[in-house]
Amino acid sequence: MAHLIAPSVLAADFGNLKEDLSMINLSEADWLHVDIMDGRFVPNISFGMDICKRMNELCEKPLDVHLMIVEPEKYIEQFRAAGADVITVHYEACPHIHRTIQQIQATGAKAGVALNPGTPVNVVKDLLEDLDLICLMSVNPGYGGQKFIYQTLPKVRELKAMIDEKNSKCLIEIDGGVGLQNAEELLKAGARVLVAGSAVFKAEQPLDVISRMKSIGKDTLIA
Ligand code: DX5
Ligand code: ZN
Repeated sequence: MAHLIAPSVLAADFGNLKEDLSMINLSEADWLHVDIMDGRFVPNISFGMDICKRMNELCEKPLDVHLMIVEPEKYIEQFRAAGADVITVHYEACPHIHRTIQQIQATGAKAGVALNPGTPVNVVKDLLEDLDLICLMSVNPGYGGQKFIYQTLPKVRELKAMIDEKNSKCLIEIDGGVGLQNAEELLKAGARVLVAGSAVFKAEQPLDVISRMKSIGKDTLIA
């Protein structure tokens, strides 16, 4: 199965959102990754559902909404109404994670669970049959442009083995510090969705970066 590229709009120029999202529309990107931060679960605040809705109007790609917020269950329906196609909540923010996954799927969206770098992958073992996506954070969430944490790689391999064992269709997404320098290694380890913020939006030729990330493994059948 081919891998997916999800540029993270957090690194876009918010003063020129229309232009940046036109670039995404023209690109080979599969999804647009939308980071929602509340200043409580993470130290930073990004934007809310109104901006997300506007992004959905401007962007033709599916929205992959990453909720870095406490009590995400309060806002799931609103983000779905704002255009979210995938809604990912943090394991660390959900005492009733199974119920929250069901709540997301009841809206018609795909459900994802994100794990912070300090959270082991075995916590999702009993969720693998139900989940659509697991997002392994390869930086501590809150900011774009951080350095990739290399201990993520063995976690990808461990999670991939768990998914294969259960015959689950769950996709492994990697978020934070991803770019052309580590994309191939991540795909080889079992990743299927690569989120890239700075690597795409801060590049001189973002279309070219997306295209190069998308074509990794085409000849070698990694993906
Ligand atoms: C981090 C966010 C990431 C971030 C990635 O808290 O969840 O999605 O935008 O940005 P880069 O690719 O610049 O690390
Ligand atoms: Zn994210």
